[in-house]
Amino acid sequence: MPAKINKIRIGALLSGSGSNFKAIADACESGQIDGEIVFAGSDRPDAQGLEIAKKRSIPTFCVDYGSHIRRFKKKTEIIKLPNDADIATLMRKSTPLLNRYDSEQAHFFLMARAAIEAELLNEIDPYPFDLLVLAGFMRNLTPYFIDRINITPGKPRIMNIHPALLPAFPGTDGYGDTFRHGCKVGGCTVHFIDYGEDSGPIIAQKAFSISEKDTIETIRVRGLKLEWQLYPQCVQLFAQKRLAVVNQCHRLGNGQIKNRVVVQIRSESQIKPKV
Ligand code: GAR
Repeated sequence: MPAKINKIRIGALLSGSGSNFKAIADACESGQIDGEIVFAGSDRPDAQGLEIAKKRSIPTFCVDYGSHIRRFKKKTEIIKLPNDADIATLMRKSTPLLNRYDSEQAHFFLMARAAIEAELLNEIDPYPFDLLVLAGFMRNLTPYFIDRINITPGKPRIMNIHPALLPAFPGTDGYGDTFRHGCKVGGCTVHFIDYGEDSGPIIAQKAFSISEKDTIETIRVRGLKLEWQLYPQCVQLFAQKRLAVVNQCHRLGNGQIKNRVVVQIRSESQIKPKV
């Protein structure tokens, strides 16, 4: 008989329709995931995904990023950097995220986001969790937030689903970018979050063909169906402790050494406790 594993506690952040959130919640209910969802939070008060959570009696909250940012810009709300945040360190760690901004914009972005993320951390605080899933959460998280969730080195615990075959097409419109580029194959990727934009170590991917007859809409529909399969599978691998994050060192043709953090998926026999 397979060893019984304790259920993991899953927190979720979402911004939109919440179909990935629903797929994960369904998989928890059906036993495909050995887990339970302990909260659903959003950056938008009108996110439909919050209604899905409420119907299932899952605690919900919203930290309204948009209205905070508008007030910060109009200066009707003062940005309060959390006491435990250090802007110089944040700037240094956020380099991969900030390459599109000049230094003033980067400073504003980080100050504003860290202030809002402090509120997000407050909302999350009452609900201890093992894994945080970003289920269509359309905000980049800064190192301020990430470092307060990833407290054990080498054990990331923020997962994201992205609508493209990363590292191609990071950003907010993965399927659109795939289509406009004329790709013949599209797909989705589940990965752990790091300090960059959609750049963290890849856990798994699923791909589909694209034909001349396809439109952005047909691609999105096809992709989402795959997302609903892939995301629960990855969450279950996490629950089974089968995801190992390892450093790989490669020597390139020019003699340069390149280090890369990757995810290896352990087989069930590799994780069985020794008796
Ligand atoms: C999904 O396609 C997801 O991959 C994408 O947003 C959609 C959310 O749909 N996420 C991103 O683009 C993150 N950068 P859902 O709200 O129905 O799950």
